[in-house]
Parts: sequence; structure tokens; C-alpha cells
Amino acid sequence: MFDMAGDDVISFGLGEPDFQPPQVAIDAMHQAMLAGHNKYTTTAGLPELRLKIAESLGYLQPGMDESNVCMTMSGTNALLNCFLTLVNPGSNVLMPEPYFPLYGPDVLIAGGESRFYPCLFENEFIPQIDVLESLVDEDTVAILYNFPSNPTGATITSEQRDELLAFAKRHDLWIITDEVYDRIVYDVNHVSFLGTGYDQTLLINSFSKTFAMTGWRIGYICCPNPDTVRQIIKMQYYITACSNDAMQYAVLTAFDEASNYPEEMAKEFQARRDLICGRLNAMPGVSCHVPKGAFYVFPKMEVPGLSSEELAIELLHGGVLASPGSAFGESGEGHIRFAYTISRDDISAGMDKVEAVLARLRGE
Ligand SMILES: Cc1ncc(COP(=O)(O)O)c(C=O)c1O
Repeated sequence: MFDMAGDDVISFGLGEPDFQPPQVAIDAMHQAMLAGHNKYTTTAGLPELRLKIAESLGYLQPGMDESNVCMTMSGTNALLNCFLTLVNPGSNVLMPEPYFPLYGPDVLIAGGESRFYPCLFENEFIPQIDVLESLVDEDTVAILYNFPSNPTGATITSEQRDELLAFAKRHDLWIITDEVYDRIVYDVNHVSFLGTGYDQTLLINSFSKTFAMTGWRIGYICCPNPDTVRQIIKMQYYITACSNDAMQYAVLTAFDEASNYPEEMAKEFQARRDLICGRLNAMPGVSCHVPKGAFYVFPKMEVPGLSSEELAIELLHGGVLASPGSAFGESGEGHIRFAYTISRDDISAGMDKVEAVLARLRGE
């Protein structure tokens, strides 16, 4: 899709904030480099930063410290680490579908099998416990949860979290909880799997979205049990040896001096969400849940005779780049993902084009 797109196409394709990292973080990275922080760090990462992260999560799980956190070079790295640490050949992992496309291949690399649990439009994209029960067996080692979700934007209530937690406990599963959009939520407080008293929980997070630094590649894994973190650190050594020295100082500064940055971004994303959902829901044949997190909408957008991929190509010919739902797994068929990581003016102009393409396809 990206290769086919011309320069004049309005792109709803990329899942990254159209903001720059906080200026204080950029300055701090520069200063840290000048001060000689250009070396290997310990594998687990800078203790001051790990402590800062543990304290920032204290509202969920009080009493943690640096022994609960391992720095990684992104959420992507954190995910691979968790799968390599937990999964052996012959074991399987329960995964959401539609999904962030790395999950399945990551489990394959670790030698395991993915079992996908559908999160369907008619259930507000929330997993159903009876479906999870039908997929789990004695070889299931973990379940991955992702709220707020990419691509659906779905979030959970604490009641839903408790049911999903009880399911994992019942089957003695590890919970890998991908919460990289935890600071981009609207109208609700983020509901986490950390702080529930279940030690077999691995929280994945990243500063890519939180501080708009996708290209910097920095994230972390946090677990209530330091013994587990020690195993994660061992694996991290074989993946990247450590994270980037100067960057860790920059993130530390962002915590101290730009702590509200994600909430400021989220205000703008919320205005865009309202705009795009309003436009989509006003289009005949289109139906869109109003998501409470992340920066994606995943409307049902079906045109008889066209797959979501064919529809995405039609949209591209009409001047709009968006991702076909099938790119996120079978249950994404019939949907298109729009990332509202562009200006409100571009969103409006893009929606005019979507409307025109759909009208043409309906023969109007
Ligand atoms: C759900 C989810 N998890 C993890 C990531 C990985 O983020 P990063 O590797 O930039 O930290 C992304 C990126 O889009 C994502 O959407």
C-alpha cells in the first residue's frame, strides 16, 4: 500500500504520533552524549530510570523498584523477549485477533503456536470467555492481552479485566499485557493487568507512543516478581545486550520535565477521534465504534463483492491510504483501519475522499 501511494495521497496508514518528542528529551539526549553517555549500560538498563518507571506504576502496584523493570529497545523488543523467555516448542499462546501483526510471527520464532481468539465488532472488540475456554489446553503457557488495542482502539472496564484475569488464573497462564497505549485514553482511566496481585503478569510498555519517539526505540518490561525479571534480563542480554545509553537519560528527563506530554497529545487525538467517528458514522453502510483509546478507528466498511484489501486499493485510487482489516487477521475482514495521526484538516479532506469512493462503488 505504501509503495503504491503517490505523494498527494492522504495517509491514515501509520501508527505513530505526528508529534516530535518533548524538546527537553531531545536536549537531554544531546547533553548526555556530550557528557560521555555513549557506552554500554547494564543489561537491565539505567537503575535511576528503572526506579522512575517502577514509581510511575506505583498507582497500580505500590512498592516496586528497579528490580521489577528491564529496559528494552522498544515494545517490539519487549514482546520478543517475553515470548522467547516463556515459550518452548510444543507450547501455545492465546492471541487477540485482529492483532498487532508482530504477535504471531514472534511466537513462531520462539518455536510455539499461536491460537487466535476473535475480538469482534458485535462484542465491542472484547474477548469472550467461552471462546477463550474453547481454545486453551494443557500446552497453553500464556495469553496476550492488548488494551487499548491496535487496531480496534478497544479498552476494557475493570470488570472485564477481572474476568480475563480470572480466566488466566484458572489455567495458570502467564499474562503478557501489551499496554503501549496506556497514556492515550479518552473519557476513561486506563485499566491495567498490573496491580491485580497476580505475579505471572508481564507488562509491556514503550515510549514510542507515550513520548512520540517511535524512531528512538525504547521500551520496557515490568513484572511484580523480580525473579521473573532476572530471567527476562538474561534473555535481553542475548537480544541487544542493553538499551541505548544517552537515550535512557533523555527518557528520564522526559519523566521529570514533560510528564503531561502524553495527556496533551491525547487531547488533540480525542478531537480527531470525534471528528473521524462522526464522519464515518454519517456515511451510508459504515459503522464505527467510538474507541476509548489508542489512535485508530476500525469501522465496519463492507462493499458487496469486495474484500477489505480490494476496498483499500479502491480507497488508494481515490486518494486515501488506509489499512485493510484483513492485514490484522481473518476477523479483521470487512473492516478498514484508519490511524488518525494526521491533522484535523487532513482528516476532513480524507473523509471527503472516502465518502466519494464509497458513493462511486455504490453506483451513485
Ligand atoms: C499494540 C502495539 N504493541 C507494540 C507496538 C510496538 O511499539 P514499539 O516497538 O515502537 O515500541 C506497537 C506499535 O505500533 C503496537 O501498536
